[in-house]
Amino acid sequence: MRKLSYFVAASIDGFIGAPSGDADFFLPFVTGDFLDYLRDEAAEVLPTAARRAFGVDERATVEYDAVIQGRASYQIALDAGITSPYAHLREYVASRSITESPDPNVEIVSGDLVAAVRELKRQEGLGIYLCGGADLAGQLKDEVDELVIKTYPVVLGSGMPMFGADFGVDAFTLASVRSFDNGVLVRTYRRER
Ligand SMILES: NC(=O)c1ccc[n+]([C@@H]2O[C@H](COP(=O)([O-])OP(=O)(O)OC[C@H]3O[C@@H](n4cnc5c(N)ncnc54)[C@H](OP(=O)(O)O)[C@@H]3O)[C@@H](O)[C@H]2O)c1
Repeated sequence: MRKLSYFVAASIDGFIGAPSGDADFFLPFVTGDFLDYLRDEAAEVLPTAARRAFGVDERATVEYDAVIQGRASYQIALDAGITSPYAHLREYVASRSITESPDPNVEIVSGDLVAAVRELKRQEGLGIYLCGGADLAGQLKDEVDELVIKTYPVVLGSGMPMFGADFGVDAFTLASVRSFDNGVLVRTYRRER
């Protein structure tokens, strides 16, 4: 089974962005040994533009070969004139409003989302990167096999939750913790099935 891995940036208090979803205020923390980590160990989940800026856009992927995101997250790329923001991965965008894909590398998922993801997980391949946002992750919470949380040293007080889902207690096992000079933590959790 392919794993579904939610790789997400969050504040200390667990928000993935401002109430509007904006997460640009995390960017100033992309420095020092954390920047080295993103470039050398986590470049598979970086957008194509960032991979190009780091000079790693030609590097083959070994952990992920697909990404799924909600239309609101994808819209950020569309607004910047980019139709394939993760060109190194097969891209799936959940949307009921986009009826025709604007890019050959992007497949629109419009039917039963959970069934579509279960089918993707059954197919041969590498891991599936769940990009977000809260709406999509909330609907796919039960399907998440791995959580990689980049925690930035800021408290927001309120904001967009990691999962836009109803209350429920899901246990995960801590697999690794990394800390960086600028106070960023990267924790990996796995779900025991
Ligand atoms: N901190 C981070 O690491 C991180 C990562 C990713 C995103 N974000 C932030 O998250 C924000 C967006 O999150 P969000 O929760 O507002 O939206 P989202 O989950 O990105 O997208 C929601 C949209 O996905 C489509 N959708 C959702 N469920 C669907 C289903 N079952 N079937 C078909 N389509 C479905 C709908 O699109 P239609 O309206 O087209 O039907 C819906 O409006 C962005 O501002 C982004 O910055 C942060």
